[in-house]
Amino acid sequence: MCGIVGYTGARPAAPLLLEGLKRLEYRGYDSAGIALVEDGRIEVHKAPGRIAALERELGQNLPPGHTGIAHTRWATHGAPSTANAHPHTDCGGTLALIHNGIIENAGLLRTALIRRGHVFRSETDTEVLAHLIEEAHAKGGALVGAVAGALQQVEGTYGIAVVSTREPDTIVAARRGSPLLVAIGSGENFIASDASAVLAQTRSVVYLDDGEIAVVRPGDYRIVDLDTAEKEKAVSRVDWDLAKIERGGYAHFMLKEIMEQPESLRNTLRGRVLEEEGTSRLGGLNLSDEQLLQVNRIVFTACGTSWHSALIGEYMMEELARIPSEVEYASEFRYRNPIVDERTLVVGISQSGETADTLAALREAKRRGARTLGIVNVVGSTIAREVDGGIYLHAGPEIGVASTKAFTSQIVALALLTLTMGRVRALSILQGREVARALLRLPELVERILAKAADVERIAERVMRATNVLYLGRGYNFPVALEGALKLKEISYIHAEGYPAAEMKHGPIALIDDLMPVVFLAPRDAVYQKVVSNVEEVKARGGRVVAVVTEGDTGLARLADHQIEVPETLDLLTPVLTVLPLQLLAYYIAVRRGCDVDQPRNLAKSVTVE
Ligand code: AGP
Repeated sequence: MCGIVGYTGARPAAPLLLEGLKRLEYRGYDSAGIALVEDGRIEVHKAPGRIAALERELGQNLPPGHTGIAHTRWATHGAPSTANAHPHTDCGGTLALIHNGIIENAGLLRTALIRRGHVFRSETDTEVLAHLIEEAHAKGGALVGAVAGALQQVEGTYGIAVVSTREPDTIVAARRGSPLLVAIGSGENFIASDASAVLAQTRSVVYLDDGEIAVVRPGDYRIVDLDTAEKEKAVSRVDWDLAKIERGGYAHFMLKEIMEQPESLRNTLRGRVLEEEGTSRLGGLNLSDEQLLQVNRIVFTACGTSWHSALIGEYMMEELARIPSEVEYASEFRYRNPIVDERTLVVGISQSGETADTLAALREAKRRGARTLGIVNVVGSTIAREVDGGIYLHAGPEIGVASTKAFTSQIVALALLTLTMGRVRALSILQGREVARALLRLPELVERILAKAADVERIAERVMRATNVLYLGRGYNFPVALEGALKLKEISYIHAEGYPAAEMKHGPIALIDDLMPVVFLAPRDAVYQKVVSNVEEVKARGGRVVAVVTEGDTGLARLADHQIEVPETLDLLTPVLTVLPLQLLAYYIAVRRGCDVDQPRNLAKSVTVE
């Protein structure tokens, strides 16, 4: 949720930390802070709001220091304020700490620490860690030992980094539940929540696992466990290029990522479609054909936009692979007593690969003997490392908080998985070939839609003053209605709801009036005629209709107030095309309403707390 970064080396730390923090701002942006160790003291600066506010507070002459840590926050405990911003220090100001996660037993620990004379300056759960480490460090020994001792008293999740005046060039970082990596430079090292913070400096990283602590100094680093026993860890290489995490001339990352979809889809498809065999090749599944055949039930689990793509995966799996499938909200699945066994395949879908609920749901499924798969975009993320097998989207970094290109790549990855599962069952080679060919045509069809973005912009002008919007679709496009509503809600703050079109008659139709735009997904698919009747019902009540239709379809021209055309494709793949106008509509409306499209209020890119 929050973004943390640390540096120790020969260069001035402040500019490197601020640059890293800006790249992490999509993780949380309600307050920020920095701590630098120099001349036996720690200088801390914090400010509410964006990192730009911290930069203003720091001024031109950045504080000195070659070792430091910095944090950008998404508040969980204690409202966004200077006092609650990180870093937090101990009573004597001899150590400073930043944290991403939630300390669940902070209340108890705080009471005990206050009784033992500690003075708290914030309302955060995090500050207890600073005082616990202070107590442990006062007993002597190295900082790493003090951190390990303190962590053994806390319940909850953390990605932390600590600096101390007693070891001025050392950063001690630890993880449980929140992502953290060590980035290795020459004569200097970094720690960070994810690689985007350090990509400009190095591509060599070590991903920490739960229960691991890193001791990082300019010339070396070591990884130990909570008993400070040494651990061997592999060094990975991050292959994203820097341009990928720049806006590249677009006004917003969201628009850039929408426009990147032809390329991101090509990357998701590359080397995975076996057209002649009518199937797909998914090297990372780690499942033999026998094991694929063993699967007698699929449970998809995810959150937010990823949950919407899971619904499409369920429809595909049942229609083409004939495998009983269901979709579970990860946050519900993890606390229910779910029925899964060794013949159940639990598929977790997550762009970031770090969403706490999805990670926990997969761990729960694994604990109950199910086989787990991850459909993930971020390479090396926790979900990717913990599942039995998986599919990387290769969609490239998604910086905009509102997920766009990851959604369309998730649908394509699910279609590829369906081909593999179907072709070892009843799916014929001809059916498989038809799907394979349609998949390979998608990127150019997407280009055709994005080339007409200006048409959507004109419709946005007409819809932007609405206070409520309804999205309706059937079959494969019901989840697209949900996704369209989510996009509009999360970046323009207009209340919107997605519904199966037929469900409208059972309640939402009461909302229809001439102020309420209704967006229909109406491609010429198997349920097209049913959707036309629903459009009639809305028009009969004076509703304003925006319809997404198949190119050349005039069936709705007389009914819809605005039409957006998309090319024809197979029913199961129409969501990849019909969602694009909805992404653009939400984007243009949000821009016109002056909203911060890339960093909408109250949201963050990956939800690493539950
Ligand atoms: C979507 O635009 C949102 N950012 C959010 O709903 C997101 O899809 C959800 O938090 C799941 O994230 P994940 O795919 O990284 O797990």
